[in-house]
Amino acid sequence: MKTIIIYESTHHGNTKKVCDRIGAECGAVLVRAESIGANFNWEDYDLVGFASGIAYSRFYDPVIRVAEQIPKGKKAFFIYTCARNDKDFSAGIKKTVSDRGAECLGSYGCRGFNTYGPLKLIGGINKSNPSEDELKAAVEFVKKMEVYFEN
Ligand SMILES: Cc1cc2nc3c(=O)[nH]c(=O)nc-3n(C[C@H](O)[C@H](O)[C@H](O)COP(=O)(O)O)c2cc1C
Repeated sequence: MKTIIIYESTHHGNTKKVCDRIGAECGAVLVRAESIGANFNWEDYDLVGFASGIAYSRFYDPVIRVAEQIPKGKKAFFIYTCARNDKDFSAGIKKTVSDRGAECLGSYGCRGFNTYGPLKLIGGINKSNPSEDELKAAVEFVKKMEVYFEN
């Protein structure tokens, strides 16, 4: 089976760090959302992940714009890094995807280094996130999605 993760990670590369580990351990193809154009062939992939940092409680716009094109029947999962991992920041993009008639299999979120606004003055927060444990948990999450897909 082929898994693609469509991502943006513009703040500190936190989400890309998570995606890189998944790419290395699960064999997923990683593609920046910004680089996906009209000729993108969804049928080349069985399972589609959307990954992003969180800004103003949402996935970044380029990722949402690609999610708005997902074809009916596709299976999708969601990964994000954020400042405070205290709610499901994928709720909005999940609705976008399920409104298209695609299936949302699950989501994984963890903390990421954050220097937004005044946080810069104190050197930022979550300096050691995503942690090694969070990277491992993200890999396990995607492996579970792949097993779920195959059954
Ligand atoms: C402009 C901006 C807005 C943000 N808004 C939120 C937010 O609403 N909630 C949150 O938990 N984190 C927020 N963050 C923190 C980022 O989501 C976090 O640092 C994330 O790991 C960045 O991911 P990236 O390095 O992959 O881009 C914000 C960061 C920036 C720069």
